Amino acid sequence: MKVTVVGAGNVGATCADVLASREVVNEVILLDIKEGIAEGKALDIWQKAPINSYDTKTIGVTNDYSKTANSDVVVITSGLPRKPGMSRDDLIQVNAGIVKSVTENIVKYSPNTILVIVSNPLDVMTYQAHVTSGFPRERVLGMAGILDTARYRAFLSDELNISQKEITAMLLGGHGDTMVPLTRYTTVGGIPVTELVSEERLDAIVQRTKVGGGELVKLMGTSAWYAPGAAAAQMVEAIIKDQRRIFPVCIQLKGEYGIDNCYLGVPVVLGKHGIEKIFELQLNEKEAAMMKESEGHVREVMNVLDDLNKQ
Ligand code: LAC
Repeated sequence: MKVTVVGAGNVGATCADVLASREVVNEVILLDIKEGIAEGKALDIWQKAPINSYDTKTIGVTNDYSKTANSDVVVITSGLPRKPGMSRDDLIQVNAGIVKSVTENIVKYSPNTILVIVSNPLDVMTYQAHVTSGFPRERVLGMAGILDTARYRAFLSDELNISQKEITAMLLGGHGDTMVPLTRYTTVGGIPVTELVSEERLDAIVQRTKVGGGELVKLMGTSAWYAPGAAAAQMVEAIIKDQRRIFPVCIQLKGEYGIDNCYLGVPVVLGKHGIEKIFELQLNEKEAAMMKESEGHVREVMNVLDDLNKQ
């Protein structure tokens, strides 16, 4: 099995490292446009193998897409990260062009692959990759929900002083401040979280989760990479190993949740074909309103992309 990670920045390199360290596949190709950077990071990851004991070969290439041929999964992380004060949407103009050209090149060499998009603005870059690839929607997935629920679970673990392993959560909507963490679907060792944390504290944790990416941008001057890279790798692993795990994943909705042709995070089963199943939860009024708001926001940015692509 072979996986390509496009973009050897912090997120791409972390994703490649996790895939190698966990021996998810035999071969990871790391590709970047900048001469030497992917080769260097791939070599560094490979030189860590004797220390941490893994056999996955990690190979770096500069813009040579022929080396990515017949990848089972391709993770696209290319594009600019956020700087302090920027929203993910501010990146659209530059990143849309990058994601489009990367997707064209990838599809040429791996027409049957499954795409995992990580570039921001996430939901709309998933749209760009979907349109450019012409793939069925089951093979064009945006990574956001695993990251956002991970942040939420980490905050809850701190709040409760209970292992994060006990905390499961689901989230809907876009990867932005309008994301919809579902407290009703959050459990701690099987116990609904609403029985363990006050509404006020839960609201504060949800709010912190919504701006969780921004908190890190403020601290570091650029966006996060450890959790985003590992989240993308977790999606790859579920697909490669046909694990049929349930994750929130960004996908084109075609009528689910009463939403047509919009790219939003929803619970899905991930397996060897990509999306194996989409769950449509019965939302209460408040959740449905939040989902609508998120849809409205993503649609606005989709329209900006449509205008850019017309130019
Ligand atoms: C974040 C970026 C990767 O949420 O979108 O950290």
